[in-house]
Amino acid sequence: MATTPVIGIDFGNESCFIGVARAGGIEVIINDYSQRDTPSFVALTSKNRMMGTSAKNQIITNISNTVFAFKRLLGLRFDDPLVAEEQKHLPQTLVATPEGEVGFRVWYLGEEAVLGVRQIVAMLLTKVKDIAEAALECKVFECVLAVPYFFTDAQRRALLDAAAIADIQVLRLLNEPSAAAVAYGLYRTSTDLPNAEQPPRHVAFVDFGSSALQVAISAFHKGKVKMLACTFDSSLGGRSFDIAIAHQLAQGFNKPGSDVTKNKRSWIRLLAEVDKLKRQMSANISALPVNVECLIDERDFAAKMKRSEMEELCAPLLERVERTLRRCLAESGLKQEDISEIELIGGSTRIPAVKTLIEQVFGKPPSTTLNQDECVARGAAIMAAMLSPSFKVREFSLTDLQPYAISLSWGGEDVEHGEMEVFPKFHSVPFSKILTFFRKGPFVLTARYADPDVGQIHKSDTISQFHIQGVKPGAQGEAQKVKVKVRLNLHGVFQVVSATMMEKQGSSQSTSEVTSETANAETESMETETSTENQESSSDTTKMDTTEGESQEGDKTAAAATQSNHPKQIVKAVDLHVDSKTSSFTQQQIQELTEREAGFRSVDNQERDRIDSKNALEEFVLNIRGRVNDSDDLEAYIEPNVRDELVQMADSTENWLYDEGEDCKKNEYVEKLQHLQNLAAPAQQRKRDHESTPRAAESFAASLNRFKKAHMAYHAGDAAYDHWTPEEAKKLEVALAEKMSWLDANMSRVRSTLKTKDLPIKAAAFLSEQQAFESSMNPVLNKPKPQPPTPPAEAAQPGKPEDAANATPAAGEKMDTE
Ligand SMILES: Nc1ncnc2c1ncn2[C@@H]1O[C@H](COP(=O)(O)OP(=O)(O)OP(=O)(O)O)[C@@H](O)[C@H]1O
Ligand SMILES: [Mg+2]
Repeated sequence: MATTPVIGIDFGNESCFIGVARAGGIEVIINDYSQRDTPSFVALTSKNRMMGTSAKNQIITNISNTVFAFKRLLGLRFDDPLVAEEQKHLPQTLVATPEGEVGFRVWYLGEEAVLGVRQIVAMLLTKVKDIAEAALECKVFECVLAVPYFFTDAQRRALLDAAAIADIQVLRLLNEPSAAAVAYGLYRTSTDLPNAEQPPRHVAFVDFGSSALQVAISAFHKGKVKMLACTFDSSLGGRSFDIAIAHQLAQGFNKPGSDVTKNKRSWIRLLAEVDKLKRQMSANISALPVNVECLIDERDFAAKMKRSEMEELCAPLLERVERTLRRCLAESGLKQEDISEIELIGGSTRIPAVKTLIEQVFGKPPSTTLNQDECVARGAAIMAAMLSPSFKVREFSLTDLQPYAISLSWGGEDVEHGEMEVFPKFHSVPFSKILTFFRKGPFVLTARYADPDVGQIHKSDTISQFHIQGVKPGAQGEAQKVKVKVRLNLHGVFQVVSATMMEKQGSSQSTSEVTSETANAETESMETETSTENQESSSDTTKMDTTEGESQEGDKTAAAATQSNHPKQIVKAVDLHVDSKTSSFTQQQIQELTEREAGFRSVDNQERDRIDSKNALEEFVLNIRGRVNDSDDLEAYIEPNVRDELVQMADSTENWLYDEGEDCKKNEYVEKLQHLQNLAAPAQQRKRDHESTPRAAESFAASLNRFKKAHMAYHAGDAAYDHWTPEEAKKLEVALAEKMSWLDANMSRVRSTLKTKDLPIKAAAFLSEQQAFESSMNPVLNKPKPQPPTPPAEAAQPGKPEDAANATPAAGEKMDTE
């Protein structure tokens, strides 16, 4: 059975790469424009949407409705300071959607529309899925999506929503450098990587793309990798360099009232040229030109820059690169010499000054063992294969990390406010913990980022709120023990998985543990039991049985109280309802957006059909006019008056197509095409008949000839036919005479018919006559000859004189030959 392929998507701010795992291995898929990367662009028009390469290609003529660089906006609230920052660089107007997320105000299908970033990302993902399905010639249902380390809970949830809207199941959100680490480690054997008992090989991954810089340090052993530390600058990327260079170059060009930085179209054109210049500067040290014709107000732009000037100009950006690199080394707790290798990922690591900084910080030059553009997509595809039950992949385990510390706070009318860090920075992911609370009523837990960075960048650090419902006091009005299981899941998303109240009943028998909790009940403290989540296993229940350290005061009290002799009680575990207020869209919202996406898709399909119909009409017009005027083609077969009518109609249709027919409904093109086809059809059919019928007649003649030759051979006494009976020979003779005269008569009818007239008899009639004749006469022609009579058995007895003639001479015996 063929294995359904799974894909890994590197959803970049500038472009996406799609890796695929299928039976043959891991590959990168080529898109509909034969490119390995698909631009992260979505364009809206009055008729349809375009995604990927086609969207990017038309940006200059549709700037306000071509959306790009939206990865940075995914999952941000509209009031996030990053949104205002991004707006400075985007030609579209950003607005708040009713759900409070960022939306693009565009002109789409003839009216103003606000499309939320989730919808836009979903559109791009549907394109990615279509590209994969077209290349693989089968449906794709599952993927692993790569995300930057710094994506917050809200951004991760937003990406999961977008994938749901695009109807693609996400097996895992995988951090981009971790995906590269998987691609790095999977194919290495014990000769490349140390065994478990040896010290690990430390590898740093530096991913510098279009919008962000990420650095990760990892520890490899054979068959596994553990991510140790990561740092990032989430607003520093290749485009930061483009913007700095373009501003600098524009300074010498701008005039009052004619400023490229203020004109959307000019600015986008300049940035595109500067991007090319920047790439060239990576390979050249001499001054390089950048020219843009008619950039603004009919003025041509011409400037030059050399690498050293760029490095000087971008020194503040390079400093940020260095800081991020150094911070990662420091936070990993390792020294320069501990790092064996530095792998480069992303297009901006090609900047020579960045490579130099990497060498300075890590004390050795970086390497590109991996394909720096494709390794994230490949690693994601490998992870998808590892998670999909239909693949058998070499054992390789990844222990990923959570970049921000997460804390949980609680409080309420009758409860003192409290807070604890549940997952410290760099805690492994996925991971579950059980927290124990003592409560008399429902309570609220608020998860937030304890890392000050998040609050500083986003002006909010709240992740989600969880309302633990159904808690009530025990029989004596005392607080009850409530166990809350929290989890950082495979996607790096924080969840409250369950809440259970350990309700005390009666006092007959119990465990000492419960006794201890009674003693502890009034303190309202919280204890934690933690357990690592085995990444290969899917069962959480069993895993939670093993508890780790990390307990707080409550545990100690419990341990002490266990020794005393309290009355025993029965404990009933009651599952509690948890109302989670997260940033994910509700099922209903997803459903609505999925339906809207399906609607957009159907509009796209209709438009594609309409364009196809228009193209078909245009093609027919151009083609038929040439054919009816070509003496080697239809000209000979069409009546002059019909030809004139057809040519006239083709001319008028062509004019119509470039005028009012430029933009019509599909059926108008179909009707016009039908009309033209009907006019041309008789001549086309005639041409086919006039060409095929003589061929069929010749084939029949050749067949009759074959039979005739056999018949003549029979009469000449040829031994090949001497087994025919006279009746059979006669039957053949009569049939031959009849068919030959039929053939002669009809061939002459065909020959005498003008090419502009329909044939009175067609190829099919000759063919069927031939078949009928052959099936009735083949039994005569192919009649098998009778077997020669077998000699009688006694004739073979040895010693008889006649034997001598047939005997084979024994070896060495002489034999007379004539
Ligand atoms: N030779 C080069 N020299 C300098 N910069 C380059 C070179 N080649 C590509 N780049 C830059 O790399 C960036 C694109 O990198 P990449 O494709 O890794 O980004 P992305 O994955 O789409 O974005 P992100 O990772 O930020 O989401 C662009 O800014 C581009 O200018
Ligand atoms: Mg990238």
